[in-house]
Amino acid sequence: MERTFIMVKPDGVQRGLVGEIIKRFEQKGYQLLAMEMVHPTREILEEHYQEHKGKPFFPKIVDFMSSGPVVAMVWYGNEVIKTGRKMLGATNPLESAPGTIRGDFGVVTGRNICHGSDSAESAEREIKLWFPQGVTMYDNTRTLQQWLYE
Ligand code: RTP
Ligand code: MG
Repeated sequence: MERTFIMVKPDGVQRGLVGEIIKRFEQKGYQLLAMEMVHPTREILEEHYQEHKGKPFFPKIVDFMSSGPVVAMVWYGNEVIKTGRKMLGATNPLESAPGTIRGDFGVVTGRNICHGSDSAESAEREIKLWFPQGVTMYDNTRTLQQWLYE
């Protein structure tokens, strides 16, 4: 069991896809631990995308991601990091399989709707960055757990 950081980007928010993305993770059987709508600063985005610092597209993603509110979320469950990335699809929506979020709703890399952590280390780093106050794990949010896990 693990946690991942999922963020609906400004394009996903503007296009009214927040509910659709939450629905997919909920229906898969994952548990929502935290959620906040926030208009991110350039500082937090430069930290979030630190692995891309120096790449030609870096200023572009910081500009775009700071252009409006995003919805930051923490999701919990069995292999949620890897499976969450599969549910998002490939970085380029044209290469994402139909049935994935980017495959179903996007057409260009710079407007690919949703972010998902790519490893356990990134997930914990990103959760700390976006939820510095910490994430409470309620033990009564899903009594369905017994129907999802053996
Ligand atoms: P993300 O971090 O947003 O979940 O996306 P990702 O792992 O699938 O892709 P990553 O390589 O981490 O790239 C981060 C975001 O930067 C934009 N990008 N533009 N060649 C380009 O113009 C280019 N490459 C990446 C995308 O918005 C990508 O999601
Ligand atoms: Mg990435």
